[in-house]
Order: sequence, then C-alpha cells, then structure tokens
Amino acid sequence: MTQIHFPSGFVWGTATASYQIEGAAHEDGRSESIWDRFAHTPGKILDGSSGDVACDHYHRWQDDIALMKGLGMQAYRFSIAWPRILPGGRGAVNQAGIDFYSRLVDGLLEAGITPFATLYHWDLPQVLQDAGGWPARATAEAFVEYADVVTRALGDRVKHWITHNEPWCASLLSYQIGEHAPGLHDWHAALAAAHHILLSHGMAVPLIRANSPGAEVGITLNFTQAVSASERAEDVAATRAFDGFFNRWFLDPLYRATYPDDMVEFYKADGRLPAGGLEFVQSGDMTTIAVPTDFLGVNYYTRAVISASTLEQGGGAPDSRLERTEMDWEVYPEGLEHLLVRLHTDYQPAKMYVTENGASYSDPPGPDGLVHDERRRTFLRDHFAASHRAIEAGVPLAGYFVWSLMDNFEWAKGYTQRFGIVWVDYDTQERIPKDSALWYRHVIADNGFDTAG
Ligand code: FCB
Repeated sequence: MTQIHFPSGFVWGTATASYQIEGAAHEDGRSESIWDRFAHTPGKILDGSSGDVACDHYHRWQDDIALMKGLGMQAYRFSIAWPRILPGGRGAVNQAGIDFYSRLVDGLLEAGITPFATLYHWDLPQVLQDAGGWPARATAEAFVEYADVVTRALGDRVKHWITHNEPWCASLLSYQIGEHAPGLHDWHAALAAAHHILLSHGMAVPLIRANSPGAEVGITLNFTQAVSASERAEDVAATRAFDGFFNRWFLDPLYRATYPDDMVEFYKADGRLPAGGLEFVQSGDMTTIAVPTDFLGVNYYTRAVISASTLEQGGGAPDSRLERTEMDWEVYPEGLEHLLVRLHTDYQPAKMYVTENGASYSDPPGPDGLVHDERRRTFLRDHFAASHRAIEAGVPLAGYFVWSLMDNFEWAKGYTQRFGIVWVDYDTQERIPKDSALWYRHVIADNGFDTAG
C-alpha cells in the first residue's frame, strides 16, 4: 500500500505575503515601506522590479478567493501590510486599510476558507526605519500598537494569528547580510533587530489573545537543516555554529527563555557582539519572549551542508548529487522530516504547522495553455510524504501551507522566480492553475495521496 492518509482535521492551504502580491502601493492611504524604498533603490532587485503592481491582488482579491475555492483550499495564510493600517508607523489608523483586510476575511469565511493572518511579513513602514528600525527598541513597542489595532478589528473573525514571519530573514538577512530591506551590514544592529522582533512577539501575544478570544497564536520561523560535510571535528563544530546562527538563536529564546551560550561566546569572540555581550537585552525580556504559544509555524525549503571552510561564507557546499530548484536550493525532503522530529524532541511546541514549503520552477504554459510543472508536483508530493512520516513518529503537525498560491514578487529576485501553484501572467494578470494545483486539489479532497503516484 502506498496510499497515505493525514489525521482528520489536518488543514491544507497556501500562503502569500502582502508586499509580494498586493500591488496598489500608493492607494487608499498606504505609506512607503522599507521594501518600497529598497526595491526602488537601483541594484537591489535582480530584475530591477518592485512590488508596485505585483499580482494586483489588492484589486483582484475576490477572484483570488474564487480561485482558492475552486482548488478546494481549506485555509489561506496571508499577511497584513502595516503601512496600510498605520501609515505613520504608529498613531492614526487608516480605516481604508482595515476595511480591505476586513472584506478579505469576510470573503474567505464565506468561501469556507479559514484565514491565517501574519502580522509582519517584512513590510515595515519606512518612517519607523528612519527612526532606527528593528535595532531600535521603540519599534517593538510600535509593533504592539499595530498588532492591537489589527486584532481588535479582525480578532472576532480571524482565529489563527502569526506574529512574525521568519525573524532570521527580517534581522540577519536584512541588517547584516544586506540582501533584504533595509540592506545593511551590521552584526550588532542585526542581533539587536532579532531581539526586538522576538520581544515584540512576546509583548503582543497576550494582547492578541485578549482581542481575539479563543484564537491560536504563534510565530513562524525559517529553518535550514544543517548537515555536516564530514565527521571531522571542525566541520561538526561549524555545523553546530551554523545551526546556532540560523535556528537556535530564535528557538532558544522562544522555548527556553535564553540565547544559546555557545553562540553568545562565538559572536563575542570575533567582535560581532561587544565584549559586554547582549546589552540590548533588558531585565524581563527573555521571560516576555518565551510566552507560551499555541503553535510554531515552520518554513522549510532546503538544507545546508556545512564545513569549517564554508561557514565563513554563511552557507553550505551543495551536494552535487541532489537536484536543485531554480533558487539553487537542494531538493531534500528528508530534511523536513528530520527538522519536524528535532523540533518536537528538542523544543516541544504545542503543535506545528508547515507555514511554507514549495519550489521555484519557471515552467511556462505549453501549447495546450496548461502548465505541466511536474517537478513542483513531485517536490510537494515528497515533502508531504516526509511530513507524514514525522506525524507517524509522533510530531503534532496540524496543517500545511504551500508556498505559494500564485507566482509573485520574490523579494531580491524580483519576478525571476516562480513559486506559485498558479501561474500569473504579469502583463494580463491572468491566473492559470498549474498541474501541481490540480493535483493538490485531489490531495486535499482525499486528505492523502498515493506516494508512488
Ligand atoms: C520565504 C519567505 C516567503 C518567500 C519564500 C520563497 O523566506 O517567507 O515570503 O519568499 O521564502
């Protein structure tokens, strides 16, 4: 028997993010975000594009809901644009922004689709960046104000809240590696940013619970499964450091109320942190961050093979035996199984959702007008199967969101990467469900599939 079934009540959906799909960058009172500024800075985006128009979802949301309904989606993870809600970062509320998401939520509920709302998927109001951005503690306070406004307005209908998407990206990738907005190269700022993002999560959770009775509240982290290139002691140590940099730096505060000691020493040793260490951590912060949550959101795309010599470059030596997606990421489904089991063993989140998993392949529509994205379908099939093995091993995995509902603005890569299970023609805004979407519809309907199929 190769047929597998997921537990009853398992939630199947897709995910998107505001800046990647909405467009309407200057409409209805939305202010500039750090991504608008970054995308319009020459040289930052591979194809010189921006999210100004993107998938025009701001105007096409009703069609997009109909599309999801047609594909049998049970849930939809989207994010809310802070600059639409509080154009000044804090203070005056822009009712038009609230109304947009309120209509979206009503439309989803009418279509029988459960909304999962992410409060922060990277579009910080530029005015808050000008005042210091995430390295400034005041930004955490501003986030709490924003989270309060949103959850008061939508908390009666949205019952699944994700405070932050991928704090590693919003801090290290943005303030140190400089690949994402605001594009800085400063270790200390990046680690302070990470702290204030985590702090803002911890501060917001009790408020969200108060504003949205009975809601599930969690946070989404991105993980790269770190695999040592060899058994040599220095490679194993480098792998542990990479895991500390990428994964444990966020997991330990959230689940153990502490930063990993080995990493604090590591950062101090080479001057990434001042000798005094984490001076931005104030008394009580770690307890605030470690507030119990209802779930951990897991974003998984690939692994990194680490050796002492590659650690310096911040990444791993790809194993050439493995296929890669167009992001140049190795296809490694087993990594998802190992990751879920490891998270369950080491940190015991109350439950988990895979909040993102998917693949970039640019197969265009063929002569028949359809998109035969067999590689994406196989990718999803193998990752679903890996998560099913984790469930059988006892992992409390409650749902799965494919990244992404549709092709969209892939951050620094612009429109050069296509992650959608629905094709988007950016000239006409036509949407075409790809073969992977049609296959996914059956998986959802059957709550399972044939692993050999
Ligand atoms: C994740 C992001 C998401 C998308 C995918 C490919 O890091 O959360 O917005 O860009 O990668």
